[in-house]
Amino acid sequence: MKMMYPSIHINLEKYRHNLNYLNQLAKAEGISLMAVTKVFCADQKLVDVINHTDIKYIADSKIENLKTMKTSKTKVLLRIPQKSDVDQVVRYADISLNSEIEVIEDLNDAAQSINKKHQIILMFDIGDLREGIYYQSNYLKIVEKVLQLKSIELIGIGTNLTCFGGVIPTDETLNKLNIIKQEIEQRFSISLNIISGGNSSTVSLLEKKECPQFINNLRIGEAFVLGRETAYGKHIENMYDSVFTLQAEIIELKEKPSFPEGLLGFDAFGKPSSFIDQGIMQRAILGIGRQDVDCEDIYNQNDTTILGCSSDHLILDMKQTSHHVGDVLTFKLNYAGILRLMTSPYIRRVYENKL
Ligand SMILES: Cc1ncc(COP(=O)(O)O)c(C=O)c1O
Repeated sequence: MKMMYPSIHINLEKYRHNLNYLNQLAKAEGISLMAVTKVFCADQKLVDVINHTDIKYIADSKIENLKTMKTSKTKVLLRIPQKSDVDQVVRYADISLNSEIEVIEDLNDAAQSINKKHQIILMFDIGDLREGIYYQSNYLKIVEKVLQLKSIELIGIGTNLTCFGGVIPTDETLNKLNIIKQEIEQRFSISLNIISGGNSSTVSLLEKKECPQFINNLRIGEAFVLGRETAYGKHIENMYDSVFTLQAEIIELKEKPSFPEGLLGFDAFGKPSSFIDQGIMQRAILGIGRQDVDCEDIYNQNDTTILGCSSDHLILDMKQTSHHVGDVLTFKLNYAGILRLMTSPYIRRVYENKL
C-alpha cells in the first residue's frame, strides 16, 4: 500500500523501553509512577504498551480520554475537574487531583449517587503558580472539610512544578510539601499514602538519586516520550528521544531568491515580514503547516534549514542536498510538536516495531 503523508511514526518498542527504564529507576527509590497519556491523546496502541508494564497508574488531563481508553490500570484525572464534569469524573476516573472544596463536595455528591467512593489527591501550589491550594493559606480547614465527606477518600497530596512559573524542584522547594504532609498527618492522625512530587522536572532529582525520601510518586509524560527531564531539559541517559518522528513530502522544489520582491506587508499570520538576503536558494515546500504543527517544534535531521511555515506549507532551504519532488523528509519533535501532531486529524499514524 502506498504511504500517505504527512505521517507521525510511533516506535512502540522505544516507548516500551523508556517506560520500563524510568520505572526501574523510580522503583529502586520507592517511587511509583503515573504514565501520562494526554500528549498522544491516549492513543490505544500506546496505552496498550503501558498496559504491558508494571506501572500502576495511567493518567490523563481529559476525562474523555479516561472514558475511552482500555486499561485495567488505576485511572487518574490530572487536570483539576470542572464542576460540570463531576458525574463523568466519578464514573471514569478512580482518582482525581483537586484543589477546590466546592468541586470536591460536588464529586462527593456525584460519587454518593452511584454508591462509589472517589479517591482524591489534594494539590498544593508551592510556588509555580498553577493549580493547587497555596501552601501559605489555611489548608488544614479545607482538609478538615474533605475528611468529613463520606464518598471521598483523601489518599494523598501532590504538587506540580516547572509548568507555569518555571520553578525547578529542589530540596528547599519540595520541603514545603513535606511540611504540609506532616501537618496534615499530625493534625488529623491520618497517614497519606501518596505524596506526588511532580512531573518530568522531578526526574532531574530521580536520576541523581536525590529525590527527597518523603516523595513516593511522580506523574510522567514528557520523560517517557522524549527521554528528557524538564527542569534543565537534559537528555536522560539510556532513553530514546525519538519515540515519535514526523515525515512530510516535498511538493515543490525550486531555485528562488531568498528575499521577497515587491512592497512588503505582513505574512499569513499577520506578522511583519523580515528577511535577510542570502541570494538564490534551493527552496522546498513540504505538505504540512501550522494547522498540524508549528515549525518551531520540529527539527530537521539533515543539512537543510527550516525557513518558516504558513497554515499548509512548510518552507525549507535545501542547501546542497540532492532531493526531488515526492521525496519524504524526517523530523524530530519536541513536546508541543508531538501534542499538536497527535491531536491533528490530518496526520496519519504509523506504528513501528509493533509489540
Ligand atoms: C498535573 C500534571 N502532572 C503531570 C503532568 C505530566 O507532565 P510532564 O509531561 O512534564 O511529565 C502534567 C501534564 O501533562 C500535569 O498537568
